[in-house]
Amino acid sequence: MAQRMKRLCRVLLLASSLLIATGAAAHPGHANASSVGPEVAPELSAKELRQRRERLMKGIGSCAAAITSHGSAEEPDQDFYWLTGVSEGGAMLLLAPRERVFKQVLLLQPRDEEAEIVEGYREPLQHSLTLKYQVDMVARLRDPVPSRLSLAMRHTDCFATLRKAASGTHEVPAEELGMLLQSVDAKTVQQWQLLESMRTVKDEAELLRMRKAIAITVEGHRTAALNLKPGAVERQVAARIDESFAWHGATGLAFPSIVASGENGAILHWAKNDRVMRNDDIVIVDIGASYGHYASDLTRTYPVSGKFTDEQRKVYDVVLAAQEKAIAAVRPGVSLDDLYVIARDHIIASGHELKHYLGHFVGLDVHDVGDWSAPLQAGMVITIEPGIYLRGKLGVRIEDEVLVTAKGYELLSAALPRRPAEVEAWMARARAEAGAVVAP
Ligand code: GLY
Ligand code: MN
Ligand code: MN
Repeated sequence: MAQRMKRLCRVLLLASSLLIATGAAAHPGHANASSVGPEVAPELSAKELRQRRERLMKGIGSCAAAITSHGSAEEPDQDFYWLTGVSEGGAMLLLAPRERVFKQVLLLQPRDEEAEIVEGYREPLQHSLTLKYQVDMVARLRDPVPSRLSLAMRHTDCFATLRKAASGTHEVPAEELGMLLQSVDAKTVQQWQLLESMRTVKDEAELLRMRKAIAITVEGHRTAALNLKPGAVERQVAARIDESFAWHGATGLAFPSIVASGENGAILHWAKNDRVMRNDDIVIVDIGASYGHYASDLTRTYPVSGKFTDEQRKVYDVVLAAQEKAIAAVRPGVSLDDLYVIARDHIIASGHELKHYLGHFVGLDVHDVGDWSAPLQAGMVITIEPGIYLRGKLGVRIEDEVLVTAKGYELLSAALPRRPAEVEAWMARARAEAGAVVAP
């Protein structure tokens, strides 16, 4: 979570510098994608995971590669999870395209009764494990890593680096790798963009999880609308939202819930959540449930009284128009940078400033991997989140998730109202129904 918070800061700190939803109709074959409820996330298909690894191997050509899981069951190593569906820490995947039989080898931590009592049980090695993970061999990591790796390097003279060394995720201790490569006269080839760019395009299984995370977050917003009232402390509302997520089937929080009322709305990283709300406040609620390790991220700005004042409305309308312009421009070929310029120029023309970047990719990470300057492709999911912040007074931010499609886009969060009159009506409805609904 701490790491995620840091990444969150990075995006928001990049300061300085309708649309009609295109029929976010139920996805064919996924009629329940947006239903909410506490069922277990469907398993990712092992066959699809194998296909991902095969595509990656095509990309690295004849080189061997290794990737080590630096995560935990609760916060998996995202690259490793994306490739294997395995969340345990310390596991390793070897890819050896030149091998005839053992092209994909999964190495899991040795069984260890004491560790298992703390962390959970590890499965006994059986043929069924190779079927479960759709790899050519599953083994336990008993031998030192270089001896395992040397097997994968038998028929090649290059080792592909799948992640940036700077990310601190060394797949193999650098010294050991260096010695091994020297002994077999092999060189390293940097290929970190490959995995990153593959992860930015989401498949149906991923979109299913993301739609569900969004649906749960919409319920969290309903809970927020219900609980914003004069005298409420921001953290009380945040607690209700988090509780609502759990009751609606979230498997975690994509990031700590932000409830920033009144002048706190102008502080981009407001995290204290300790202010008591007043009737004339507007409140930024920036929240995201995660589901099956996939994140969501939606922001609305609500008037505590249930009605925007004229002054609040003026600012809100500028942010909304900037967002609508940017969303309308989404299609394959444009970049996040292009969208940023569209929204920024609108806000500047209105006499304000856009103090942070416009959005980011979403996926396993709330600030998912992806190149902001590269042309968008169908299957990518981005946020569009312009804001205006008046120091000491108020903040307005509106954030939605948009799926890039072959023809343009689909507004994934279309179920959450954005226009001021719709927000007010939605708040009124949520509050009117509150008598019949037990909060959250
Ligand atoms: N909630 C973090 C962000 O909007 O990027
Ligand atoms: Mn965001
Ligand atoms: Mn957000």
